[in-house]
Amino acid sequence: MTAAGTTTAARADFSSIVRLDQVQKFFGPIQALQDISLEIGRNEIVGLIGDNGAGKSTLIKVMTGVMQPTAGRIFVRDKEIKLSDYSVRMAHDLSIETVYQDRSLADKQPLWRNFFVGRQITNRFGFIDIKKEKQIADQILKGAIGFRSEGITVDSTVANLSGGERQGIAIGRAMHYNADLIILDEPTVALAVAEVRKVLDFVRRIKESGRACIYIEHNLAHVHEVADRLIVLDRGKVVAEILPKDMTVFELTEFLIELQHGQ
Ligand SMILES: Nc1ncnc2c1ncn2[C@@H]1O[C@H](COP(=O)(O)OP(=O)(O)OP(=O)(O)O)[C@@H](O)[C@H]1O
Ligand SMILES: [Mg+2]
Repeated sequence: MTAAGTTTAARADFSSIVRLDQVQKFFGPIQALQDISLEIGRNEIVGLIGDNGAGKSTLIKVMTGVMQPTAGRIFVRDKEIKLSDYSVRMAHDLSIETVYQDRSLADKQPLWRNFFVGRQITNRFGFIDIKKEKQIADQILKGAIGFRSEGITVDSTVANLSGGERQGIAIGRAMHYNADLIILDEPTVALAVAEVRKVLDFVRRIKESGRACIYIEHNLAHVHEVADRLIVLDRGKVVAEILPKDMTVFELTEFLIELQHGQ
């Protein structure tokens, strides 16, 4: 058990973190999501794959309160959500965090400030408790995400971090706020090989700490390596659920190519 996992495991009194039932989403005449029923368990890494335009981002947006589905039901921790009330804020309050590529961190700020944007720790006089924030940031760095790079401290400027390290910070922040589900939208895009390795290690940390993760990825080798289960979307529908152990990366690639040709 890692330091970051203690709180989440203690309140794991639900079977699935999110469940969608017969979700539909139309954009005018275009049906972006069709009869989507799926379940994300509380401690699994689910890879979400499919071609451009398959509906992956739309699915995540519906799941995280960014957009309302046209029809269907959403359950969070086994309880049905009233869709007209569902919002990004509510998803946050329900411990669902999304880490978007490169949009999650403030470049010019030191690392520690980035952990507390919008969630400052204040002392009893209402001032930001810098000492406390730095101390917690240091714990997240070394504990939750296990940064080993000597050069990186809580005072490092985000702009000087590598792409993989930034993803690590964003993931670490989500873990610190006790997200039970962390959604990653293509975290390895445009990263060098060594950086990709780091990000995949951070993804594994999410699971080790008792949390769930939805990992959207075009690179099949990356997602095959870390996911427990793969959900394949094609033109708005779930067309397959695959366990990586049942299919090699090569077979998976062939499968997706055939899907495209089958249209
Ligand atoms: N706001 C929108 N208005 C109209 N159509 C949209 C909107 N968002 C998505 N779509 C359409 O819905 C479908 C699914 O798009 P979505 O962005 O979910 O695909 P994706 O799987 O995330 O693709 P990519 O891998 O390219 O990111 C596409 O046909 C897209 O054009
Ligand atoms: Mg997308």
